[in-house]
Amino acid sequence: MEYILKLTLAAMSSRVFTDIFQIAGVLGASGPLRGKDLNQMPTIQNGYLVVEDGEIADCGLMENCNYRGESLPHNTIVLPAWCDSHTHLVFAESRENEFVQKIKGASYAEIAAAGGGILNSAKKIEQYSEDQLFLLAWKRLEEIALLGTGAVEIKSGYGLSFDGELKMLKVIQRLKEKSNLIIKSTFLGAHAFPQEYRNNHGPYIQMLIHDLLPVIAREKLADYVDTFCEKGFFSPEEMETVCNAAAAFGLKPKLHVNQLNSIGAIQTGIRLDAISLDHLETVTDKDISDLGNFKGISTLLPSAAFFLRMNMPPARKLIESNAAVALATDYNPGSSPSGNMNFVVSLACIQMKMLPEEALNAATINGAFAMEIDKQAGSVSVSKKANLIFTKPIPSINYIPYSFGQNVIDKVMIKGEFI
Ligand code: NIG
Ligand code: FE
Repeated sequence: MEYILKLTLAAMSSRVFTDIFQIAGVLGASGPLRGKDLNQMPTIQNGYLVVEDGEIADCGLMENCNYRGESLPHNTIVLPAWCDSHTHLVFAESRENEFVQKIKGASYAEIAAAGGGILNSAKKIEQYSEDQLFLLAWKRLEEIALLGTGAVEIKSGYGLSFDGELKMLKVIQRLKEKSNLIIKSTFLGAHAFPQEYRNNHGPYIQMLIHDLLPVIAREKLADYVDTFCEKGFFSPEEMETVCNAAAAFGLKPKLHVNQLNSIGAIQTGIRLDAISLDHLETVTDKDISDLGNFKGISTLLPSAAFFLRMNMPPARKLIESNAAVALATDYNPGSSPSGNMNFVVSLACIQMKMLPEEALNAATINGAFAMEIDKQAGSVSVSKKANLIFTKPIPSINYIPYSFGQNVIDKVMIKGEFI
C-alpha cells in the first residue's frame, strides 16, 4: 500500500532521481560545524533523491528505494547549492581602472583616500535609477545561480546617503520578490564616510541612525546591519553606536572586521552578539582564540584577499581554535569582482589549506548559518529547499576544488526547478 502511494506521489508532483553516484552534504546540523566536525560531510553512495513542491522530500540508498525515477549519468554528484553569505552585488559600474592602478603600484587605502574605491561606487549609484540597478543586479543573480549559488546575502553600502541607501535596499527588496534564490538583505550605510563627513563623522552617523534606520525598519528593507570597521572608516566605537541603534529596530549585525588592521573590531563584534564576523585577513593570536569561543560565524572571503594580493585569512588556525568557518565571495566591484563560489572553494583549499570537505561545508551549511537559513538551505535534508548542484561526471568531491577555474557543474536546481 505504502509502495503504491509512493509511486503515485512520485508520478504526480515530484521528481525522483535514482542511481546517484554520490549525494554529498546529507546532514541535519543543529549548529554550525566547528573544529574537526567541519571535515565531516556525510555522503550517500549510490542513492536516490525525491524532490516535491520545491523541497527535498526523501533521499537514501538505492537498496532502499521504492520509487521509479530518472537515472542520473554515471559519476554525477549531487550537493547542496552554495550559500554565499557576504556580497555587495548591487552596484552600478565595474572598477577595472582601479584594478590597473593597483597593478601599477597603488594600494587599496591610497585609492580610497583619493576618492576612489567605495566613494567612486557611491558616485555611480547616485547616477543610476532604481530600475537600472535592478536590471544589473538581476543579471548578476542569474549569473551566480548558474554557478551553483542558491542563497545569497546582499548589502547596501554604495548609497552613502539617505536616498542612495534606500534606493539600494529597494533594489534588494525587488530581487527578493522576483528571484527564486533565498536572499537576505543587509544595511551597510556605515561602509565609508562621504567626502563632506570625512572629518566630521557625527552628523553622518546621526543620519544613519535617526533618519534611515526608522524608514528601513518600517518598510522592512533589511534583515541585518553591517559596518566596515577599519582604520580610516568606522572605529569600533562607531560600529557599536550604529549596531546598538539597529538592534533597537531588530537588526542583528554581520560585520566587516579585520580586513586591513586589527583594531579591536572582533572583540566589539563578539560583544554585540554578531551573527557573523567577516574578512579576518589581519588577526592576532588573541583574535583567533576569541573567534574560537565566538558562537557566531567567522566568514572568510579568500577571493577578496586574492584580488587585493593580501595574505589569506588563517583558516587552519581558525578551524583549530574551534571557530565556525564559512566561505563567501564578497562579490563587489572593488575587491572581488566575482561571485563564483566554485573559485572561492578552490582558493580555500589551494591557498588556505582547507580540506575539500571543510571548504564544501563552509560554503554550504555554515554559510546557511551565517544567514540564519539553516532550516531551509545548506544541506541535502528532508524538508529543506531543493537547491542543488548536479555535477558533470567527476571522480570524487575532491575533484570540485581541484579542478579550479573549470566548470564541474552540469545543472543547478533552485526550489525544485532546473535553471
Ligand atoms: O568587503 N571592505 C569593504 N568593503 C568591500 C569592498 C568595497 C569596495 O571596494 O567597493 C569589501 O571588500
Ligand atoms: Fe564585503
